[in-house]
Amino acid sequence: MSQAKDNAPAAGKNPNPAGLEGIVAASSAIGDVDGINGILIYEGYNIHDLAKYSTFEEVVFLLWHGRLPKRAELDELRRSISENQEVPKEVIEMMRQMPRDAEPMDILRTAVSALGFYDQDAHDTSREGSLRTATRLTAQLPVIVAASDRLRNGKEPLMPKPEFNLATNFLYLLKGEMPSAEDARIFDVALILHADHELNASTFTARVVAATLASMYAAITAAIGALSGPLHGGANTNAMRMLLEIGAVERAEPYMMNALAAKRKIMGFGHRVYRTEDPRATHLRQFSKELGERTGDTRWYEISRKVEEIMMREKKLYANVDFYSASTYYMMGIPPDLFTPVFAVSRISGWTGHILEQYANNRLIRPRAEYTGPRDLFYVPIDER
Ligand SMILES: CC(C)(COP(=O)(O)OP(=O)(O)OC[C@H]1O[C@@H](n2cnc3c(N)ncnc32)[C@H](O)[C@@H]1OP(=O)(O)O)[C@@H](O)C(=O)NCCC(=O)NCCS
Repeated sequence: MSQAKDNAPAAGKNPNPAGLEGIVAASSAIGDVDGINGILIYEGYNIHDLAKYSTFEEVVFLLWHGRLPKRAELDELRRSISENQEVPKEVIEMMRQMPRDAEPMDILRTAVSALGFYDQDAHDTSREGSLRTATRLTAQLPVIVAASDRLRNGKEPLMPKPEFNLATNFLYLLKGEMPSAEDARIFDVALILHADHELNASTFTARVVAATLASMYAAITAAIGALSGPLHGGANTNAMRMLLEIGAVERAEPYMMNALAAKRKIMGFGHRVYRTEDPRATHLRQFSKELGERTGDTRWYEISRKVEEIMMREKKLYANVDFYSASTYYMMGIPPDLFTPVFAVSRISGWTGHILEQYANNRLIRPRAEYTGPRDLFYVPIDER
């Protein structure tokens, strides 16, 4: 299938194959991005309503089953998540051997790949088997990310608490103390906001791998690799590094003008699909403001506002999801290089939802390339070249 969508090239023109811009490459009932009007929906529900009324676990159920859960179904999902949170000790032991200065995203990718050894359903692509694996992955990703941070700091990983939801558990496992109710809710909403985003690079990767009928672990390992790049999920870590380099509101203007003059890409700005405000950024900007006011240090929010103002003035570019999640997570005490793994802790729900959808109605994904090389060359024997 190859139809144009949203900001696709004007009718009558061939789409630019570079970057598959505007190409519709799959049918999906999971989520949709309206880039012109700035509307994001999951399974028919507007992200603003989900952010206001829902919980991450409810959204996980929604993305896997296509409808909101009834109370008993949600309780059942929460129970099976907590029963599946224990990461195999062999994987934790393997993580101990990894270099202390390894990128947490690389640790996550390697650990997730290894998790498949210990899951008897790893190669079961039926809906039932895949749902069990999706539950394990969703349960264990936050535990692995928190454990990787504790291990590099010479601390033992903690056991998740069954009475906590995923958001609370992650913050508890990372810091070793119960988060405030406000932080836990902000983090829960951040997980909701990052859960799915249609056919972004990592989700597309997951679907391509799943479409060969490879295992869910193979697809998720590949998706984590795709998410790690700075043009995708890696932007949040890099956005925070930039805010830290700027350091003070009055330094934002000269810093940004230099960066733009040097034609640097400013992380957390621009988007392939949105031509208006990313609806997720609206919430995260508010969280950044609230956290600054609550902690009594509004510096990161104020620098972010200034950078946003300059990017609009100079480049007419909007902040995307990765810009305000940076200062939000930072003020919650999450180390910057964990921001992208945190993105994966949420996006595992969308990835697994898309893999379930792919397995259910599979066809190998195998596009064509436009050949630009020579043809009809004569083969010259090696000694005559
Ligand atoms: C997201 C992104 C990869 C989309 O890229 P794309 O659709 O291929 O758009 P392009 O890179 O072709 O950008 C179009 C123009 O805007 C400029 N631009 C886009 N994003 C920019 C940014 N973050 N900073 C500076 N300039 C940017 C490009 O330089 C280009 O300008 P030109 O036409 O003068 O060459 C791109 O905006 C980007 O690199 N952003 C920063 C990384 C980021 O935040 N990623 C997370 C996305 S959720």
